[in-house]
Amino acid sequence: MVLGVSGGIAAYKAAELLRLFTESGHDVTVVPTAAALEFVGAPTWSALSGKPVATDVWSNVHEVPHVRIGQTADLVVVAPATADVVAKAAHGLADDLLTNTLLTARCPVVFAPAMHTEMWEHPATRDNVATLRRRGALVIEPAEGRLTGKDTGKGRFPEPVEIFELCRSVLVNGGRTDLAGRHVVVSAGGTREFLDPVRFLGNRSSGLQGYALARAAAARGAEVTLVAANVTLADPAGVKVVRVETTAQLRDAVVAAASGADSVVMAAAPADFRPTTVSEAKIKKAADGSAPAIELTQNPDILHEISHHRTRPDTVIVGFAAETGDDTGTVLDLARAKLERKGCDLLVVNDVSGGAVFGSPDNEAVILAKDGAVVEVPSGAKAALAEVIWDQVVARLPR
Ligand code: CTP
Repeated sequence: MVLGVSGGIAAYKAAELLRLFTESGHDVTVVPTAAALEFVGAPTWSALSGKPVATDVWSNVHEVPHVRIGQTADLVVVAPATADVVAKAAHGLADDLLTNTLLTARCPVVFAPAMHTEMWEHPATRDNVATLRRRGALVIEPAEGRLTGKDTGKGRFPEPVEIFELCRSVLVNGGRTDLAGRHVVVSAGGTREFLDPVRFLGNRSSGLQGYALARAAAARGAEVTLVAANVTLADPAGVKVVRVETTAQLRDAVVAAASGADSVVMAAAPADFRPTTVSEAKIKKAADGSAPAIELTQNPDILHEISHHRTRPDTVIVGFAAETGDDTGTVLDLARAKLERKGCDLLVVNDVSGGAVFGSPDNEAVILAKDGAVVEVPSGAKAALAEVIWDQVVARLPR
């Protein structure tokens, strides 16, 4: 693969990205621009990649590097991508080795822009980004946060490990950007229902499956809103994360984001009940040793609500069902009844007898569709299940 590095302060973070690629076995050719070398010198790139680096087309001319590097790559990642390199790529300019490589590459190309908010929001950059996306490149939305200097805003380079994960998804899905132009909403994690300022009722959801879904959707080009309830994982690259704690907050955030969305996937585990009253003060032990009774009130069913009151009739809505089976039916009997009751388009069914899926990197599921389709997904990484779920969503999106 090729790691293109352009001249922004985030170039130093690209050194970490390079390490993640080489340590996981990738053969990486680093192509820095001349400006990138002002930030991080050639010895760093050369030592970490184990190869010589060049910025122009005049080194090793007999090997025709300006054509060969792009032609032989399986993936090109430009990280950080400055406004300048984005503009050059959009216009097909080729005045150095990186821009030549971008013109000759026929593999998936990922840009991880990092720049000041004003530059990112400038109409020229907006148009250039739109052009690159229209041509099938994956341009990651920059993160929001601290920029160079004292200012904060959109334009920050996402965490290198998250760019690495996104690139792995791109390699898995073959660079398909079949969710480009689509807005998808994913909920993840488990809600907390407070009893008092320090105690809550919660559940064992880790958020791993929802985060894998968000990452996979971003890697397929979607604009992704991830509503995360009490998840401690790093923000996936290119994903807008909305943090919530309770089911009521999750409901408000999902309903707001779902309005007009192409797809909503409810991977979160919202608590079905909340304490009827929340004590303002910490609840104390009673002197007589008695325990307090907790009265519960039912929470709104978010999946039911967004499925039965759709703002767009063609939004593809996906629910999850964690079932153990009981005297009234098998896991699949209960799941079919749930699909019907909830009114969603797809239901991803996990057999949780024994608590196996919680916090595990793997998952095994059956996807039931309202249209009768049944897709069995063998045990595998949650990332792999995420790809199958998006395949099923894409197949049901209006053209
Ligand atoms: N869900 C939701 N709102 C709730 C509870 C659950 O949107 N208050 C969603 C979950 O995100 C999941 C699906 O509904 O996608 C199934 O959740 P589950 O807890 O299995 O369903 P319940 O309706 O609680 O059914 P059960 O009667 O089995 O508890």
